[in-house]
Amino acid sequence: MEPFSDKKIIESWVKNVAPWVTAVQQQQITSRRLVTDQAIIDAVMTSSAHLSIPTRKVLDIGCGEGWLARELSQLGLSVTGLDVLPEFIREANKLGGGDFRVMAYEEISAQNLPEKYDVLVCNFSLIGKESVEHIFRVAPSLLNTDGIFAIQTLHPVTSCGQDPYRDGWRAGSWAGFSDEFCDPAPWYFRTLESWFKLFRDKGYRLRELSEPINPETGQAASLIMIASVASPYHQIT
Ligand SMILES: C[S@@+](CC[C@H](N)C(=O)[O-])C[C@H]1O[C@@H](n2cnc3c(N)ncnc32)[C@H](O)[C@@H]1O
Repeated sequence: MEPFSDKKIIESWVKNVAPWVTAVQQQQITSRRLVTDQAIIDAVMTSSAHLSIPTRKVLDIGCGEGWLARELSQLGLSVTGLDVLPEFIREANKLGGGDFRVMAYEEISAQNLPEKYDVLVCNFSLIGKESVEHIFRVAPSLLNTDGIFAIQTLHPVTSCGQDPYRDGWRAGSWAGFSDEFCDPAPWYFRTLESWFKLFRDKGYRLRELSEPINPETGQAASLIMIASVASPYHQIT
């Protein structure tokens, strides 16, 4: 297996399901507890508030064990969650709050998901290269008119470390996590400029960009980007 590939990401996540479920459900990840969980909830609620429909439909792409779906469903949204790992989907279904299905990003298409959604949300789940580009390509076909595409990801500046500030695969790390984690997934680093180009080149309009700050460190804890489809005639594949 290639050490740096979208496939390797999945292979690594398979080994870390149990500790991840514990870490998320026991709120062991400080930046999530302090900042980023509420930040993505607020971003979805605020940026979709203009949609004057009784129930906003959300697709949580790479939902993991489903915490975000549970939160959003308590706020009145109707959530479908997708993840490649059946173990996560089993856990999510056990706890409820959404309709959860096993599906790899590479399988997402208007054929496989004939429903349309008001919000597509990816919370720290866009990790790879081709799989992410695929989601950007198909997302417009899954969105209702005026729908939004919301992404929370590692902030490129604060996550760059000592490496050069340019796109490329990087080795993962579980630094700060419990000893039960192993074989960290590689990830594809994108600069802020590259994220912007990805939205523009795939026919989106980036409507909002925010940088939630960790109050303990004073550093950006993440990057949140909210986009809409620029025009149905401007979908470049
Ligand atoms: C860091 S976790 C985030 C999970 C969840 N969004 C959260 O906020 O807790 C990344 C998730 O992306 C999923 N994932 C990674 N690559 C995937 C792929 N190609 N298809 C579907 N899910 C994938 C993993 O299984 C994992 O659940």
